[in-house]
Amino acid sequence: MIEKDFAELALFITGPTWIRPEARAAAALPEFGHRDAENIKRFGPIFAHLRTMARVGQERDVILFNGSGSTALEAAVRSLVADGETVLNVSVGAFGDLFHKMAVLNGKKAAQLKFAAGQAIDLARMEQALVEHKPAVVTLTQNETSTGVLNDVESACALARKYGALPVVDGVSLFGGADARIPESDPVMYVTSTQKSLGVHAGFGIAFVSAEALDKAAQVANRGYSSDIVTQVNTARKSQTLTTPNGGLANQLAVQLDYIVNVEGIAKRYARHEAMRDMVAAWVERQPGFDFLAAEGFRSPTLTALRTPEGLGSAGLKRVKEAMRERGYLFDTGYGKLNVELESQGARPICRIGHMGDITPEMLAKYLDDLGRVLAQA
Ligand SMILES: Cc1ncc(COP(=O)(O)O)c(C=O)c1O
Repeated sequence: MIEKDFAELALFITGPTWIRPEARAAAALPEFGHRDAENIKRFGPIFAHLRTMARVGQERDVILFNGSGSTALEAAVRSLVADGETVLNVSVGAFGDLFHKMAVLNGKKAAQLKFAAGQAIDLARMEQALVEHKPAVVTLTQNETSTGVLNDVESACALARKYGALPVVDGVSLFGGADARIPESDPVMYVTSTQKSLGVHAGFGIAFVSAEALDKAAQVANRGYSSDIVTQVNTARKSQTLTTPNGGLANQLAVQLDYIVNVEGIAKRYARHEAMRDMVAAWVERQPGFDFLAAEGFRSPTLTALRTPEGLGSAGLKRVKEAMRERGYLFDTGYGKLNVELESQGARPICRIGHMGDITPEMLAKYLDDLGRVLAQA
């Protein structure tokens, strides 16, 4: 009975996130064969609801990769960047850096445009980089989970296109918590995953892929097998996954997307996330010493990154984490590598508050109250 030691914690980290009981229970629904008639009962609605949430029609394909967000991001790199071409990885934090790392490790010619932690994409600097590197593909992070920065990817995609580059957007921690603005931004590939604002376990990388992306991929050599969007799309068009899916997660996702679209409602879900961002902002006003890392107007609706008060370093954050655990929560002590970097420069580290998925304003209010109490004793 090893499960008796598994702690029941409300996850206020930035993904995976807390899962509501009905979505959690859906993992125990019947197993099924992924090439059998039972498959479409799960994946038919999954594909349809994802399209509804993304506001895309048949002009884009939806692919579910077995893996996670990274699997789909890597597929973008492998499928869209040809030998001899340059990919420009625009990075405002750890996940922008990850996209660059994937490009380099896959042997692509990659240039990186990096912004300081907490900064959003500066379009003037991005334009200089486009002129300098003449990339064929540009990667962008919509919602930088390490810093809580929400980028204006609509403008960044338009700028990439002005210079003839195909934009790819990482929307991993946003999709499901706010409108992804896919039709307006028109990226050739938009990627997300299941364990963040969609509120279930990790296990699928989700991609919205345009016809332009498929045309481009057809000209790229060595796309691999499961990392090839052209191969993937053949099974996706049958509402299937290319390789065997996690059936428990498929059951969960089918139930959860039905809940999002038909019970909670998409607009209400987005409004709830904005309200939670505002609740955290109001808490920060009352809480001495905390400051936002991201500038106003660029703050994520699904997570908030805060500079800690003077004197509350990484060691103190770890104590806060353990005190919060005793109260039934998993507290987020900030993105590890970033905090090491900040503290080595003598700067204050950050902590993060995840307010994504199905966390309710009531849960968040209680969490912030408890956090305030724990901090008062830290
Ligand atoms: C913005 C962003 N991109 C990519 C990833 C990687 O996604 P996954 O962990 O689903 O592979 C994450 C995970 O935290 C993320 O937040």
